[in-house]
Amino acid sequence: MNNIDNKDNILRRGRLGSSVKEDVMLYTTSLSFDKEIFESDILCDIAHTKMLMEKNIISGEDGNKIINELINIFKNGMESLNLDPSLDDIHMVIENELIKKLGEDVAGRMHTGRSRNDEVATDLRMALREKILQILKQLINMEKNILNLAENHKETLTIGYTHLQHAQPTTYAHHLLSYVSAIERDILRLLDAYKRINISPLGCGAMATTGFDIDRKRTMELLGFDGLIENSMDGVSARDFIVETMSCLSMLGTNLSKICEELVLFSTYEFGTVELANEYTSTSSIMPQKKNPDVAEIARAKLSTLNGNLISVLTILKALPNTYNRDLQEISPHLWKSVYTTIDTINMIDGMISTLKVNADRMKELAEKNYSTATELADTLVRECGIPFRTAHGIVGEVVRISIERNKNMDEVIGEVLDRHGLELDKSMIEKALNPMENVKMRKVIGGPAPEEVERAINSYKSRIYNYEKEVNEKVKKVKKVKNELLHKIEL
Ligand code: ARG
Repeated sequence: MNNIDNKDNILRRGRLGSSVKEDVMLYTTSLSFDKEIFESDILCDIAHTKMLMEKNIISGEDGNKIINELINIFKNGMESLNLDPSLDDIHMVIENELIKKLGEDVAGRMHTGRSRNDEVATDLRMALREKILQILKQLINMEKNILNLAENHKETLTIGYTHLQHAQPTTYAHHLLSYVSAIERDILRLLDAYKRINISPLGCGAMATTGFDIDRKRTMELLGFDGLIENSMDGVSARDFIVETMSCLSMLGTNLSKICEELVLFSTYEFGTVELANEYTSTSSIMPQKKNPDVAEIARAKLSTLNGNLISVLTILKALPNTYNRDLQEISPHLWKSVYTTIDTINMIDGMISTLKVNADRMKELAEKNYSTATELADTLVRECGIPFRTAHGIVGEVVRISIERNKNMDEVIGEVLDRHGLELDKSMIEKALNPMENVKMRKVIGGPAPEEVERAINSYKSRIYNYEKEVNEKVKKVKKVKNELLHKIEL
């Protein structure tokens, strides 16, 4: 790697001189991932410049020229810039371009009363809020799609598992609502995290604000923030909004991973309760019969990396002193990787669920087998014979054991066991207790699988999801409005 000489390097020329080592520059630059904050950085520059003009810290004439040139840079895109790694990052690259276009006497005034430290913290929060809104929209859409599927399967009997062993009969709609329920919490977590993302650190300066009479509330408002992060040391140092977001994504990823795992499992020959659409599967290069659930498997694996990324960020932050440390830069790639993995994976899972083929016959077959209604038989003994549940549990356990030994159904064995215990139960009662659909219909407690309860739950999820959608749309509108206003050219 060579040494490069550049006497015009606006960042280094004063203190460090003109010589730089190329490999050192490439090692330390953030330019490769600064594309994520390019847009936000320009908006941040414009808002800061506007405020400086309004407070007469720079002249209106200079300010307007700077803003118009910033809008040009925005339109031409980051690729049009001189991405010289010896300028460190996108902040200096943009300032360098401005100086090239407008001269240092004008453009050199933009960075008055500000530091890259408050700037990058502001940019990250702005870029992240948009991604969070995108993820929220995706989740809301997926919730709607799962609810639509559930709507069609309120009476689709299936088996529920504990320990992955047959437990009790339920319906596929009830099973699907378990996904909706979990993802609703992910939506709520992200909405809550948004409150701590969307606060402005701009004006914190390097760490001690500035002696210029800047107006932090004005830039906060211009950039669409809902509040300030006031303490200037915390403002430039804090990255817990990133940890919080990535924790939310990790939890979301864990919930999504459960869906993927169940798609893989339930689409096997052994379970055979669902079939994935061909588009979401692949085949084998040697075994012509194969239909493999690769998308669900890859999703399951990619979601695991969210946890690794979170730990990387926590580890970078652990034991850093106040305030800005360059270590903070190395958090960004992990954050964006997690964000994009989440966006891409939700898209895949939503697609798989929306195109899923449900094998209701197989589900029914499983629900009817393997003593799934034993609990209800015990409950019936409690209700009809007035015995304690523990006693009934023992009696039905005996019924199951003998049925297995003799390869019989429970109704063929129960009579003799009840006799032995001096108990009696109506035949119709036994039939009802052993009927899986009757089991489901009886479970109409809040959150249960009874079709009427599932119907109520679907409607209640729908109305709450409608509210989240409204909230997200309002936030999106605010962010859009701010952008439009800031990117409006000024007639010179
Ligand atoms: N590229 C830096 C980052 O991503 C921007 C802030 C640099 N500040 C500094 N004082 N070197 O964190």
